[in-house]
Amino acid sequence: MSPTTPTPSFGEDANDALAPLFDIGYGPLYLSALRAVLVHGIPDLLADGPLPVDELARRSGTHAPSLKRVLRMLAMRGIFRVDEAETVHLTPSSELLRTGVPRSQRYTLLTLSDETFVRGAAGLEETLRTGVPGFEVAYGKPFFEHLQGDPATQRSFDLGMSAMSGRNEPQIAASYAFPAEGTVIDIAGGRGGLLRAVLTANPGLHGVLFDQPQTVAHHVLDDEKLTGRWSTESGDFFSAVPPGGDIYILKHILHDWNDEDCLRILRTVRRAVEPGTKLLVIDAALPTGEEPHPGKALDVMMLALVPGRERTEPEFAALLTAAGFTLNRVLPTPSFQSIVEAVAI
Ligand SMILES: C[S@@+](CC[C@H](N)C(=O)[O-])C[C@H]1O[C@@H](n2cnc3c(N)ncnc32)[C@H](O)[C@@H]1O
Repeated sequence: MSPTTPTPSFGEDANDALAPLFDIGYGPLYLSALRAVLVHGIPDLLADGPLPVDELARRSGTHAPSLKRVLRMLAMRGIFRVDEAETVHLTPSSELLRTGVPRSQRYTLLTLSDETFVRGAAGLEETLRTGVPGFEVAYGKPFFEHLQGDPATQRSFDLGMSAMSGRNEPQIAASYAFPAEGTVIDIAGGRGGLLRAVLTANPGLHGVLFDQPQTVAHHVLDDEKLTGRWSTESGDFFSAVPPGGDIYILKHILHDWNDEDCLRILRTVRRAVEPGTKLLVIDAALPTGEEPHPGKALDVMMLALVPGRERTEPEFAALLTAAGFTLNRVLPTPSFQSIVEAVAI
């Protein structure tokens, strides 16, 4: 079965109206199954080649008949292949679930299937009544505040964000003509993957990674090609951000916050910069029409977890103008994220 084969339909015809309903209905089961095999280290155990399912179970300490059934289901989505001899093979998708391979999405899936995300999404029922993020309904406090008090989940979230962002950081860095010299400051830049890509592609630039202390502590900037060209600072972007940069980046930040908090963040940045300084807001710029766009799903993830949202170009323009910037242009990237270039006025 090819990796692109859709889930076999529970309707009589794969194209009938039942198909999307059952596809969605079974979605959480697939996510839990994938989490289970990740937690039990199955993709890494297959790194050296296919293994009979009994041997895989022995090496992972799992229950062989149950493992076989779970892998057989995941194989319908092209994640693993279980052949007639009951030997389990990696596929291109499950290769990407191995630890430490280029573009690995192991931590992405561990984050998306983490209890915080699952319970946040389950809270959407209440969100539709009140508008309060599902996460706050479930945990009684905002998402980032919860992470601050739970170092293990914070660490796992940082690894997940880093993996999610890492899959296309070089392409995003290549989508903007950075100047030959100057300082790029990535505000709430996570572990610094995008900054690393920008500095790697632009050898004349220096960079500053700014984020909360617990996130900056696990930065990924220690690369000998970048020696002497970066520093880290930690703090709270509602209070102050490092001054003196030539280009500031806010990637996947404004989508975490409501308009009022976005204005607080943007105004903090504006206070730190001279007129003419560029600000790159990197987020999904939602189309205003009904065409499909991955940002429309990410928007509902934001609804479930945080008080934020994805925005359209006119919505970005209004926020930027209110904070003392002007929207210059919106550049596409090979990913679904756009680079909204603004200039401080
Ligand atoms: C969705 S992640 C985006 C990370 C990174 N820019 C990326 O695209 O991968 C949001 C980031 O905001 C940071 N953050 C949240 N609240 C913050 C605050 N008050 N001050 C500074 N950073 C904050 C988090 O630590 C996290 O790294």
